[in-house]
Amino acid sequence: MGSIEMTTNDIEKLKRENMNLADKIYIFDTTLRDGEQTPGVALTVDEKIQIAQKLNNLGVDKIEVGFPASSKGEIESAKRIKERDLDSTLVGLARSLKGDIDAVLDADLEYIHTFIGTSPLHRDYKLKKSKEEIVQGAVESVEYAKDHGLTVEFSAEDATRTERDFLFEIFNEVVGAGADFLDVPDTVGILTPIMTHELITDIKNNFKTPISVHFHNDFGLATANSLTAIECGANQAHVTVNGLGERTGNCSLEELVMTLKTAYGVDLGLDTTRLYSLSNLVGRLTGVKMPVNKPIVGDNAFAHESGIHVHGILNNSSTYEPMSPEMVGHSRRIVLGKHTGANALKSKLKDYHIDLNDEQFCKVFDEIKSLGDSGKCVTDDDLVAIAITELASARETPIEIKGMSISMGANVSPTATVKLEIDGVEKETASTGVGPVDAALKAIGTLIQDTLNIELEEYNLEAINGGTDALADVFVICSDPDGNKSTGRSINQDIVMASILAVLDSINKLLLIRRSI
Ligand code: KIV
Ligand code: ZN
Repeated sequence: MGSIEMTTNDIEKLKRENMNLADKIYIFDTTLRDGEQTPGVALTVDEKIQIAQKLNNLGVDKIEVGFPASSKGEIESAKRIKERDLDSTLVGLARSLKGDIDAVLDADLEYIHTFIGTSPLHRDYKLKKSKEEIVQGAVESVEYAKDHGLTVEFSAEDATRTERDFLFEIFNEVVGAGADFLDVPDTVGILTPIMTHELITDIKNNFKTPISVHFHNDFGLATANSLTAIECGANQAHVTVNGLGERTGNCSLEELVMTLKTAYGVDLGLDTTRLYSLSNLVGRLTGVKMPVNKPIVGDNAFAHESGIHVHGILNNSSTYEPMSPEMVGHSRRIVLGKHTGANALKSKLKDYHIDLNDEQFCKVFDEIKSLGDSGKCVTDDDLVAIAITELASARETPIEIKGMSISMGANVSPTATVKLEIDGVEKETASTGVGPVDAALKAIGTLIQDTLNIELEEYNLEAINGGTDALADVFVICSDPDGNKSTGRSINQDIVMASILAVLDSINKLLLIRRSI
């Protein structure tokens, strides 16, 4: 049974019937305008074109391409996007000013989103205008835009902190002037779902003109509030890819669309399989990377680690996924770590065609658990290396230590003499170093150079117990020229010997991996 069937069961249908959903819900994407207002983000014309093309392919109804009055580049990018002849309607932002509206006309756009601050804070501290002047500015700009053949969406900026009677007054006036859409911006994201319910219901009861919402995410409620507005009959929601936008952003496109599709059974006709790649493109071009736990598009959106969950997922993915990754073009990931169960490990090993007997399986399982316990994230590469080492460990170790001595004197660099047996042949050499460990590791490097070139990537020394007789616990990671990596560990009373044995442990694993492939 698919996840969609599960969510459109009788209870969901009942809920939907009790909602006041509009017949058509428009998706107005403002990634290229409000999204670009994300602190630190600036897109080039070519980047804007790429994003607009992808938004169009996804199937959004409207794309706010920019704020033409703000720069020549904004006019150019609007024009270049227009040349693409996209199906989505292209929108330009304008303040309620004649010059801004002219810039939208210069950009050759046919749909304008014009706004003016209406709340007491915006009237008194930003615009320093009376209510009458604000209404007059809004009406004149809507009339001017309509006279020039534009479709007009009017936004009462900071609507949610505007006196209700004044909000209704200005909405009435702009409707009289010909506004085609009334937008309700929650400019600083102060709404909660219940407040949204009351506000949008009241507006819908008083206006026939289609209602749009533009909700910011300051308290993490933009998606919930936009959904509530839609439940109450809002005809359109402003959204951005990845929820980008001023401060903490706007309502996220992918969250809104997928919740409507899966929880409400409302299919907006968008090709949702394009959401993940769109999110990646926007992340790459804006430099704003999504947290791993970002809904829908985050790295962990379809990742599973705990044994109980992976077991369920392997039997039926709906057990722990509310939608399939394929629906949004993402993919499922089984992660190995301290919570891994035997089923997950078996399925991973199968993916890599690695066959282990029961004893080998238990050893690999234990190693993964202990790596997880020590705080490490076990990648697929780690698993393959561990499993192959285990497979190969039945064979003899290629390199063994046969002897080691250190000579040190005042003002002379220490010298280490190391004797190894490499594939049955004994070799000995001496090297100097900044300290005895350095000298010994250099000697090993010289002795094995004909067998394998290695790089010591990590060297970690810890004393167990403290005191002068403390045990030295050495952990190392070595890599070979092909990028294979392996860990090595040794505990010894002698710090030089612990270091040598840890490095040899790692080198032997690398050799076994190379000889098994
Ligand atoms: O958040 C806001 O109020 C806006 C306006 C321009 C509509 O982005
Ligand atoms: Zn905004």
